[in-house]
Amino acid sequence: MITVLGHNGYVGQAYVRFFKSQNIAFQGLSREQCDYTDRAILATYLKNEKPDFLINAAGYTGKPNVDACEDHRSDCLAGNAILPGILQVACQEAGIPWGHVSSGCIFTGLREDGSGFSETDVPNFTFRQNNCSFYSGSKALGEEVLGYEARSEKGQQVWKNRQTEDFYVWRLRIPFNEVDNPRNYLTKLLKYQTLLEAENSLSQLDHFVRATIQCWEKKIPFGTYNVTNPGKITTSEVTALMKQKGITQKEFHFFESEKEFLAKAAKTPRSNCILSTDKILTANIALPPVKDAIAEALDQWKPCP
Ligand SMILES: NC(=O)c1ccc[n+]([C@@H]2O[C@H](COP(=O)([O-])OP(=O)(O)OC[C@H]3O[C@@H](n4cnc5c(N)ncnc54)[C@H](OP(=O)(O)O)[C@@H]3O)[C@@H](O)[C@H]2O)c1
Repeated sequence: MITVLGHNGYVGQAYVRFFKSQNIAFQGLSREQCDYTDRAILATYLKNEKPDFLINAAGYTGKPNVDACEDHRSDCLAGNAILPGILQVACQEAGIPWGHVSSGCIFTGLREDGSGFSETDVPNFTFRQNNCSFYSGSKALGEEVLGYEARSEKGQQVWKNRQTEDFYVWRLRIPFNEVDNPRNYLTKLLKYQTLLEAENSLSQLDHFVRATIQCWEKKIPFGTYNVTNPGKITTSEVTALMKQKGITQKEFHFFESEKEFLAKAAKTPRSNCILSTDKILTANIALPPVKDAIAEALDQWKPCP
């Protein structure tokens, strides 16, 4: 049996759908049912129920978007930075392996050589580096709480855990699929008046879920994995495909610069970045290329009635 924390959330619901479709036994846990933010309560639950694995799909994302994190900082820190540490201790005490849904938004841009950031690159959109959002800072802090830190190795700074890793950290990034939902990236592009042109790595939500479960099923080594669809795509490439596939006839408008976006439409900077998927692909976990995944989601688009 697999325990899922945050099973009522956008990501948690994707796990629930996956488990139901695959007939995998699971138990969703909400804070109301069992206050998993309390280490002792969670440890007791784990010792009694003895799940085979635990997935942390709980966290604070801010509604309608990450701007809300600027105004709800203690909830944001509690959900994204403190909770992972509580889970780590409780899972260690109960001897339960687990995986944590982190985020690729702890990076901005590309590596200097133009390639995507790997799992050993030190996050650069954090409270320590660059002018990050409170949300991104809290997610990076969550990884630090789990023991990751910048270390000097062979003259280079690398992101490494100070302890043996006995859990997964899965980095999700800008989720989307074919189901219209205010949390879906494609819905957001259709809804917003003016868009920010940017190039990004993205995660098809159901591919993300399947890949993370495969990490556990295939017993690939614990540690951090960027779980995005390989490749990159720009906002305008996505909107062009939307028009080409007849999803909308809307004329999309773009901000002239990130500066204009921040001045007119956002409280806090957004992470736009490219992540390398070499590690997860080398572990033989397949994810379709991002452009194919976007095209497929648009081909199967299910608009809200
Ligand atoms: N959605 C995205 O775009 C995205 C992208 C990258 C990473 N992520 C990560 O994926 C995880 C899940 O995100 P989501 O989009 O599914 O979020 P969501 O829809 O808001 O659901 C998150 C769930 O987390 C639980 N939770 C536990 N502590 C919380 C706290 N302090 N504040 C608020 N909720 C708390 C709540 O479940 P109960 O009340 O039922 O316990 C809530 O339903 C988060 O860690 C997020 O950072 C999301």
